[in-house]
Amino acid sequence: MSDIILEINHLKKSYGQNQVLKDISLQVKKGEVISIIGSSGSGKSTFLRSINLLETPTEGQILYHGQDVLAKGYDLTTYREKLGMVFQSFNLFNNLNVLENAVVAQTTVLKRDRGEAEKIAKANLEKVGLGEQYWKAKPSQLSGGQKQRVAIARALSVDPEAILFDEPTSALDPEMVGEVLKTMQDLAKSGLTMIIVTHEMEFARDVSDRVIFMDKGVIAEQGTPQQIFENPQEERTKEFLQRFLR
Ligand SMILES: Nc1ncnc2c1ncn2[C@@H]1O[C@H](COP(=O)(O)OP(=O)(O)OP(=O)(O)O)[C@@H](O)[C@H]1O
Ligand SMILES: [Mg+2]
Repeated sequence: MSDIILEINHLKKSYGQNQVLKDISLQVKKGEVISIIGSSGSGKSTFLRSINLLETPTEGQILYHGQDVLAKGYDLTTYREKLGMVFQSFNLFNNLNVLENAVVAQTTVLKRDRGEAEKIAKANLEKVGLGEQYWKAKPSQLSGGQKQRVAIARALSVDPEAILFDEPTSALDPEMVGEVLKTMQDLAKSGLTMIIVTHEMEFARDVSDRVIFMDKGVIAEQGTPQQIFENPQEERTKEFLQRFLR
């Protein structure tokens, strides 16, 4: 079996006349941690949302373990389950407590029995640093950093093959950013496949296997963190980085 989980070929996405993604190809290997950086409006979120089919690509191909997920008749259930997503705005169920947030998809989508689902949810909440004292809390009683860690525990609880993160720390107060990045760093070390849109350049440099710089709907440059941050080749990469790294 190939260790390539995802193969994206010539992906394009337009909104009306506005072509936001202009021919993007990317292969993602099992265990790989990929950071996507780039200016506002370059298409980073649209790319992530197209990968997990929250948006329907206008053109192109997405192969999941070699299977074309856009082909007629392909059953998307597994694909959607196996790609977790963590958003800037948490997207927790605000009427459910912390534990329930991490349980509900397991019992409804995966049909796990309640006992097992709770056990898994608790283990993942512990893993992200949320012990028993938090399990009965409602999201409104948590800090942003805690909410984001619940969202991560929830994503982990359905056994994803990869998790896509869209600026998971940009809605957080500065003092909460570190705890979420630390959690993500631990996940990266544990071998989880991750695609992370981020403006946290230091994090991208320390944690990624590969960094992708997007500009105006294309992958303008990609490489190891060292290549991108220390020796960028493209003028636009250099300009972008100069705005972030001094
Ligand atoms: N649902 C939509 N309908 C129409 N246009 C959209 C839609 N979503 C995104 N766009 C447009 O696509 C372009 C890329 O947006 P996108 O959100 O992917 O950028 P981004 O790189 O994630 O930016 P940011 O760093 O600000 O999050 C923008 O010009 C945006 O206006
Ligand atoms: Mg975005």
